[in-house]
Amino acid sequence: MSMEMKTPAFGNLQGLKVVYSAVEIAGPEAAQMMAEWGADVTWIENTFNGDSMRDTTYVKELERRNQKSLSLNIFSEEGREVFLKLIETADIFIESSKGPAFAKRGLTDELLWEHNKSLVIVHVSGFGHTGVPDRVNRAAYDQTAQAFSGYLAQNGTEEQPMIASPYTGDYFTSLMVVGSSLAALYKAQKTGVGESIDVAMYEVMLRMGAYYMMDYLNGGILYPRAGARHQNLCGIGVYKCKDGFLSLCLYGAKQNKALLDRIGLGYLWGTEEYPEGTTALWLDGPKAELIEQKLEEYLLTQPVDEVEEDFSNCKIAANKVMTFEELPEHPHFKAREAFIEWETMEGKKCKGPNIFPKFKNNPGQVWRPMPTLGMDTKTILTDLGYSSEEIHELKEKGIIKMS
Ligand code: COA
Repeated sequence: MSMEMKTPAFGNLQGLKVVYSAVEIAGPEAAQMMAEWGADVTWIENTFNGDSMRDTTYVKELERRNQKSLSLNIFSEEGREVFLKLIETADIFIESSKGPAFAKRGLTDELLWEHNKSLVIVHVSGFGHTGVPDRVNRAAYDQTAQAFSGYLAQNGTEEQPMIASPYTGDYFTSLMVVGSSLAALYKAQKTGVGESIDVAMYEVMLRMGAYYMMDYLNGGILYPRAGARHQNLCGIGVYKCKDGFLSLCLYGAKQNKALLDRIGLGYLWGTEEYPEGTTALWLDGPKAELIEQKLEEYLLTQPVDEVEEDFSNCKIAANKVMTFEELPEHPHFKAREAFIEWETMEGKKCKGPNIFPKFKNNPGQVWRPMPTLGMDTKTILTDLGYSSEEIHELKEKGIIKMS
């Protein structure tokens, strides 16, 4: 693995230049995925503490691998100049703030386009850049977006809404940042004109959480929070087995017949209540309560590995709920090299997920561990045309930081 500055040539995003100013997950993770698919990614960090992600022990090593760290006070007069020069070299710029922080400080989209007409700009915020002013400028983390969007209200038990963990709102946002910025880039490359994208985390979660909302919006239907089970179908949810938990997604005629046979209710199949060919066993169906009761009783007597295999053989989607301890040992994880090991800047071994998805012709790679704070500042400024003296002066003034 290389500690070198120059991004090696690999991946589908080879040659793409991404610059970002954001902390934690939502914005940075989008850049991270692009870095894993070959893009050249510059991570702008503040000059005081750097990205708060640095406070974590291990996850930062995963979420900032392949990146370059530039520690720069963007909002100082000279820092702004450096920033604008950097922007001239970028294809995509991602920032995440409490509302339109860049525009408020004079760094408007229009100014950035004056420096780079085809730049794709992505603004990540909790609530978007327009709307109710008081809301627009609020801080937001994953949970905030889950709470405001109706996503959080759907998860948990009837008594208690629960967060969809870990950091679902952040990671979903980053996926939407990747998708929307590459969509805009596709257009920008044809027209030479850039784009500005207003990614409100709550809207990401609204869109991702709209499945049951459609029943409410159009049919006035509200389901109780389902907890570990499904809102309206039998045989879907997490069930307790003899020695573990099974995730079961029962659907389809063949599958229903096989399951009913196993739980001693085979006689229901082919009746008026459950005619052959029934694909969905609705929770408001005639024998739903009995089916659920017999299924629970049956599964409690079954070792989870055995029932997983048996159900899978009947084409029922069933999987043991795997624990962290089991993952690295599983033959399928091993066969697909789901986990890899790389070396951190301190020379320590770090284990984590491989690069996904697997591209056949232009695979991603890990070529560099997470850089230390400001590690690439000097090289980046040199590339932008700053002399050693100028770099030294900016450092003395606290506009940049190096390590
Ligand atoms: N140079 C100069 N100033 C910088 C800077 C840089 N390179 N990077 C950040 N700053 C400034 C910010 O503008 C901000 O100034 P302000 O407080 O006067 O507005 C300050 O430093 C701190 O910024 P930030 O890093 O955003 O930290 P925060 O603790 O104030 O807020 C969030 C953190 C995540 C709550 C906020 O950024 C936010 O709501 N982001 C949008 C949604 C989001 O991404 N949430 C996190 C999901 S993981």
